[in-house]
Amino acid sequence: MIKAVYPGTFDPITKGHIDVTSRARKLFSKIIILIAHHNEKDPLFSVEERKKMIKESVREMKNVEVDSYDGLLVDYAKKKNIRVVIRGLRAISDFEYEFQMALMNRKISPEVETIFLVPHESYTYLSSSLIKEIISVGGDVSHFVPKVVKKFLKKKLNEND
Ligand code: COA
Repeated sequence: MIKAVYPGTFDPITKGHIDVTSRARKLFSKIIILIAHHNEKDPLFSVEERKKMIKESVREMKNVEVDSYDGLLVDYAKKKNIRVVIRGLRAISDFEYEFQMALMNRKISPEVETIFLVPHESYTYLSSSLIKEIISVGGDVSHFVPKVVKKFLKKKLNEND
């Protein structure tokens, strides 16, 4: 039984993240989608809001769980006895950052391996920031995010008006 953690900011989760999750869940017995802390990001949604959106989006994926952590990813992995970190690689431009993170995580915790999965090509141009930008100017994001995320985005926009 091999568990894997899929960390990210998920502000909000997109169909690209879900595509990566659905690929990962076929390879590992359990996937934990982990809402983690990124120093340079100031998320639009609270951790609880992001958790709700993710839970609803992966409701039918039986071996997928959701959690959050504001410390080091490798510490979380150690605590939960997880040795695999999943990351998505959308394009060459992701590589340098991902490579740096994987090597840093390995330096801190050599027993943790990072595995990269490539999302479906229709999601390679997606990012959470783009989704927020599109919806903020009245665009339709239905193709890019689950229904629940669209609902949360609309609600957040109304609150901020
Ligand atoms: N589909 C669509 N979008 C995707 C995607 C996919 N498959 N994969 C990544 N993205 C997008 C995200 O939406 C996000 O877009 P944004 O920048 O516009 O918000 C961007 O790519 C990267 O986001 P994400 O995959 O969520 O990663 P991140 O860079 O925000 O997360 C952490 C990095 C949280 C995993 C990292 O900072 C971490 O591990 N933090 C914990 C603390 C720690 O251990 N730090 C040391 C790290 S060496």
